[in-house]
Amino acid sequence: KTNNFTFDPGFTSTASCESKITYIDGDEGVLLYRGYPIDQLAETGKFLETGYLLLYGELPTKAQFDDFSKRIAYHTMVHEQMSQFFTGFRRDAHPMAVMVGVVGALSAFYHDSTDIRDPEQREMASIRMIAKMPTIAAMAYKYSIGQPFIYPQNHLDYSANFLNMCFAVPCEPYKVDPVLSRAMDRIFILHADHEQNASTSTVRLAGSSGANPFACISAGIACLWGPAHGGANEAALTMLQRIGTVDRIPEFIARAKDKNDPFRLMGFGHRVYKNYDPRAKIMQKTCHEVLEAVGHGDDPTLKVALELEHIALNDDYFIEKKLYPNIDFYSGITLRALGFPTEMFTVLFAIARTVGWIAQWKEMIEDPYQRIGRPRQLYTGPTERSYVAMDERG
Ligand code: SDX
Repeated sequence: KTNNFTFDPGFTSTASCESKITYIDGDEGVLLYRGYPIDQLAETGKFLETGYLLLYGELPTKAQFDDFSKRIAYHTMVHEQMSQFFTGFRRDAHPMAVMVGVVGALSAFYHDSTDIRDPEQREMASIRMIAKMPTIAAMAYKYSIGQPFIYPQNHLDYSANFLNMCFAVPCEPYKVDPVLSRAMDRIFILHADHEQNASTSTVRLAGSSGANPFACISAGIACLWGPAHGGANEAALTMLQRIGTVDRIPEFIARAKDKNDPFRLMGFGHRVYKNYDPRAKIMQKTCHEVLEAVGHGDDPTLKVALELEHIALNDDYFIEKKLYPNIDFYSGITLRALGFPTEMFTVLFAIARTVGWIAQWKEMIEDPYQRIGRPRQLYTGPTERSYVAMDERG
């Protein structure tokens, strides 16, 4: 399922791009990472296994996986001075605002991984970025709740390490629940890449000028934050909580259909999927597993979500507009059950998507035809006219 069209370099730099990384069939609801179906990767793989696949194009052997995991673990710490950045933020700053600032600041620390023409430095920047995202995200969370930062533990795998940095405290032992850690891995896999979505296109466009890779990822985080994109997981849970009970669903369905009402069903609809987002099915299953594991199997918000989905999927408006649940519809309920506050939901999305952003950035930089991105426009402004002195204007 690839397009064997001849390659026009000029085409890349203006409108769209060619990529070997992720394939989406929006009508069929198909998502493949390097040809592997998302449900197979989510069910069987670990996040770093999928990360290796997205970065290098093939599933790793055991030796390759162990080496990659060790290289990532080795770089999970951040420069000790970076912790001073946090004290400049208000405690109640949105963690995505903190992530934009602190991730961008990595470009001020790592000068040996910014000559992107050098493959070694590109690889170094890639490993460092994937390794440090969870650490910075956990620091942003700890700072927001006034708890001390917890250092990474190299004996823990990627997701277990992240949960430990978020939820451990120095004064008592903390044991990562393997069910929750596996669920975290699966959630990261689901969010890892998604072709040329808005934030990935932002990273590619910023990177096409040769900008520092850490600064490009910071630009991607800024774009992902929007409620129409990665911010929808936070907005979807807020919406479900506002609906509150099943009997209020018709009122919100009516509002979503009312053209004069700006209300949208958060977690529904998609620029590409005109069928069920394959990630949403897996997220719903993970949601049930996590809620059971934490003893909230009867979570009333999940009941509202399931009934809302059922009603919407049988409503002519949503059927005609081809609106289905997307990845964000069930993720908020799941992440809250994992112990995260709503403002951290998009941060978790950013941790996972960093692997996709880096894979797409590398593919773009390593493309021999690559030139600076320069989208063109359809000019609809005034035709040429002459200047009129201010005292002659009416
Ligand atoms: C992500 O691009 C990616 O791949 C993104 C992502 C990724 O992994 O990177 O998948 C992650 O961003 C998922 C999307 C998360 N956003 C939300 O859940 C926010 C709610 N969804 C909507 O804002 C909306 O569906 C968008 C922004 C996602 C898509 O908007 P579009 O392109 O306008 O959707 P469309 O063209 O399919 O809309 C068709 C019609 C329109 O009405 P008409 O102009 O035809 O009258 O359906 C309406 C839309 O107004 N519509 C909705 C709706 N989404 C679209 N009506 C009610 N509720 C909705 N959620």
